[in-house]
Amino acid sequence: MSSSRIAAFYRLTVEERRQKLGEALGLGAADMEALTAADALPLEVADMMVENAVGTFALPFGVALNFQVNGRDFVIPMVVEEPSVIAAASRAALVARSGGGFAAEADPGAMIGQIQLIDVPDPGAAVERVGAARARILAAAEELTPGLCQRGAGPRDVEVRLVRTSRGETMVVVHVLVDTGDAMGANAVNSLVEGLAPMVAEVAGGTVCLRILSNLADRRLARAAVRVPVTALAREGVDGSEVARRMIAAYEFAAADPYRAATHNKGIMNGIDALAVATGNDWRAIEAGAHAFACRDGAYRSLTSWELTDGHLTGTLELPMAVSTVGPLVQSHPRVRLALRLLGVSGARDLAGIMAAVGLASNMAAMQALATEGIQKGHMALHARAVSHAAGARGEAAEELRQRLIAAGEVKIDRARALLRALESGS
Ligand code: MEV
Repeated sequence: MSSSRIAAFYRLTVEERRQKLGEALGLGAADMEALTAADALPLEVADMMVENAVGTFALPFGVALNFQVNGRDFVIPMVVEEPSVIAAASRAALVARSGGGFAAEADPGAMIGQIQLIDVPDPGAAVERVGAARARILAAAEELTPGLCQRGAGPRDVEVRLVRTSRGETMVVVHVLVDTGDAMGANAVNSLVEGLAPMVAEVAGGTVCLRILSNLADRRLARAAVRVPVTALAREGVDGSEVARRMIAAYEFAAADPYRAATHNKGIMNGIDALAVATGNDWRAIEAGAHAFACRDGAYRSLTSWELTDGHLTGTLELPMAVSTVGPLVQSHPRVRLALRLLGVSGARDLAGIMAAVGLASNMAAMQALATEGIQKGHMALHARAVSHAAGARGEAAEELRQRLIAAGEVKIDRARALLRALESGS
């Protein structure tokens, strides 16, 4: 696409936004239909996706604008229930543009499949034997994954670890590293380790117990970086360099304190999860990987790093990113397909890099707001709209009530109902 900037997008009606988006992205009739259909997920598709389906459940589908990643513009589809997430990411992406946008990249899709062996008579010798049989195990793994191998992906390595239990026993854990290409890879990896486990047990000795992928996908990392001039960070009467100084203090807080790091990282995941849901990805897997990676050295820390040099604020983010751009959901869920069309990514690695950029943007937005006016002001402005609607106001009355709620400084449903009664009685 030419530019992901669409001026005053938030001020348009939903209908106008759809039109602008269609024009900006050159969407055809089928994509416009997928965007506007009342039924985002046909019931028969939902029935195929899970057991005991009794209906579907909708969430807002929005787009974050202004993103530039590796010199290309992207419109970011987001599915999220929380106000401010989309606005905050768009705002940070606009700030990032002043420094050339985000740089992002991701590793090839090397997932880890684990085979747990218990009751191994001599764990040390088992490690030696598995090491010596590495080529034979890899060849067997390749035979079990013909489809992946044909696509140029497939098993890449075999590693073996000893894990001590709290009871003092030693189990042998074999890792099979698999490039899963554009797939997240859970099914491919789980089938592979289930198929491979008897042979591995024969080599190592002991009894096979679990055979399952690891969500700590640390061989499949995505990275993003951003560098913005501090002058672009000025906010609410606070000078840019002072905002940057406070943002560094916010980062140092998250780097040193797990209570703060959990919230800081939650803010990163706000954008990543929203994009993951929109693109039909397993956000629980991404969450699990992110938080496990955040405490890889034994202490739970910030996933991002920030520093201030030469009048610029520089941020980086690295985290596991097991995502997919293929599979049954992409084929059968019209809005997932549409989300991938809006993004225009070439494959899972491309998407993983953009995920990291969106996470970094979400973090930058949160730190900038927290270090200045706080997040409640923007949040409440949006929340007031939802409360005004929930109180029963519609059309012009809804906007009037929203403004009265903000002016009252109390965005609560009881207050909204009282204010609506007053509004309707002409006061
Ligand atoms: C709220 O959803 C996310 C934040 O709490 C993140 C943060 O504190 O950095 C604003």
